Amino acid sequence: MHIHSSEFEKSSSKHTECPETELPEFAFIGRSNVGKSSLINMLLQRKDLAKTSGSPGKTRLINHFKINGAWYLVDLPGYGYAKVSKGDRKSFMKMIYSYFEQRKNMINAFVLVDSRHAPQPSDLEFMNWLGTHGIPFSIIMTKLDKLSSSELKKNKDVYHKRMLQDWEELPPFFYTSASSRLGREEVLNYIDHCISLSS
Ligand code: GTP
Ligand code: MG
Repeated sequence: MHIHSSEFEKSSSKHTECPETELPEFAFIGRSNVGKSSLINMLLQRKDLAKTSGSPGKTRLINHFKINGAWYLVDLPGYGYAKVSKGDRKSFMKMIYSYFEQRKNMINAFVLVDSRHAPQPSDLEFMNWLGTHGIPFSIIMTKLDKLSSSELKKNKDVYHKRMLQDWEELPPFFYTSASSRLGREEVLNYIDHCISLSS
């Protein structure tokens, strides 16, 4: 897919404030600091459209970006960030869960996981929640530039095996690096494919 336009449209603190639209949308979710905002910039070839940060907890709202005038990409706050207060974490999760429960035009969630780490309970739990709510998702492994190919192979195998303990089939997996642009075509082509199935 060719990206000819990408614009920030709106930040919302709850799903009821999100843009009213029937255009398909794709959500990017995952633990804080996993690289959601960086990946979005890489996909859109925009340096600083989605705000990134070295310290976790940068994205705090639901951010809508309109792409090619035809679909939305949504940058969500990270979950599992230990340094926010219990109360804040609860309200973050409430915002995220009600977004996914209520957002009718959301056609696929990309769950981002750090390729360096073993499967994390918060990610597995979140994917199980998506599954029980019938919300389609795929997994994007991030920061591949930080791993050797043998480490990557090992971590991929571990992840696939762990997923197959909970699921009969693996969801689509993508392997990316925001710094080397690895995986850009694959993710964009998948989005294109999902849009064509939904229309
Ligand atoms: P929150 O909004 O806080 O939940 O974080 P986020 O998931 O949006 O992560 P963000 O894109 O802000 O990136 C977090 C840190 O990881 C930044 O320091 C990025 O530069 C770094 N980073 C993101 N993607 C990559 C990558 O592919 N490779 C490398 N080496 N660093 C990355
Ligand atoms: Mg972010």
